[in-house]
Amino acid sequence: MTVQEIYSNLKNRLRDVVPEPELRIKSEIAYEINRLKAERNAVILGHNYMEPALYYSIPDFVGDSLELSRKAAQTDKDIIVFCGVRFMAETAKILNPEKTVLLPAEKAGCSLAASITAEDVRSLKAQFPGAPVVTYVNTYADVKAESDICCTSGNAAAVVRSLDSDVVIFLPDEYLAGNVAAETGKKIVFPRKDAAELEKPFQIIGWQGRCEVHERFTVEDIANVRKQFPDVVVLAHPECSPEVVEASDFSGSTTAMERYVRESKSPRYLLLTECSMGDNVAAANPDKEMLRLCTIRCPHMNQITLEDTLEALRETQYVIEVPEQVRVRAAKAVERMIAIG
Ligand code: 13P
Ligand code: SF4
Repeated sequence: MTVQEIYSNLKNRLRDVVPEPELRIKSEIAYEINRLKAERNAVILGHNYMEPALYYSIPDFVGDSLELSRKAAQTDKDIIVFCGVRFMAETAKILNPEKTVLLPAEKAGCSLAASITAEDVRSLKAQFPGAPVVTYVNTYADVKAESDICCTSGNAAAVVRSLDSDVVIFLPDEYLAGNVAAETGKKIVFPRKDAAELEKPFQIIGWQGRCEVHERFTVEDIANVRKQFPDVVVLAHPECSPEVVEASDFSGSTTAMERYVRESKSPRYLLLTECSMGDNVAAANPDKEMLRLCTIRCPHMNQITLEDTLEALRETQYVIEVPEQVRVRAAKAVERMIAIG
């Protein structure tokens, strides 16, 4: 596509979201990224939280963590540029040891991934011998390496159901684990919180990590919006608290939320997730209104810009490395996850 074609495409979709002069500049950067991407035989994977001009111009594939892991597993390109956060780029590297994986912003982390260490997992395994460890993909490679199977928000309940075990350890998101427990009818305990009274029987052992974005949405937020817009359909990511999920009309991964809006006929939605995703869904559904609480942003996802992605391809930065002995063990857990729908 020429610069003009990229610009027209972005203008068509984003005229109500991104100011016109910004669209012109971003189209030029996107053109250069796409040129370099072809020259360097690279693929660009973009998470649903990417800012709208990036989301609609440079990724070969967009999606949620599960879809992007699958795309990373299938690519035959030499370089994978991951427009997302570090744990996602690491997952791509785990699946593609021979390829160069680039993360455009070095500091794009995640509060969930930072909430648990490999040593924490080893100590839980010692405390609950024999219980399989399910690890949310929002973790670093050394934590995945201690796990039996990974999951994403797109298949967490299916992964737990797939395990033939009375008790599972589910790490590290307290709220996702609580939502999976509610969905599967299992009782959850938290050893750090309930240590003195781990009253049996329980079926899920959780951890108290939280997403710094989704933990901030409240039942009161929903009630306030419903009061103002009684017809609103509320969609909550499963990293929101079980109370918020319970007060919502639908909960699912970022792609499940996007699909829900696309396939339903209601005129108005409240998306309880990263605000950029609301912009992207609004742009794809111009006949529907997307309400969002934009004071709550993911500082990690927001690090990824078109400018940094261009630099990443020009300078081959920032290269993601995973020690081979960690990668081999983590790959088993990620591959088992990918096999579950
Ligand atoms: P999804 O897998 O639903 O895209 O979620 C990833 C994430 O980081 C949500 O905050
Ligand atoms: Fe991590 Fe939350 Fe940001 Fe997703 S939104 S990357 S879970 S901090």
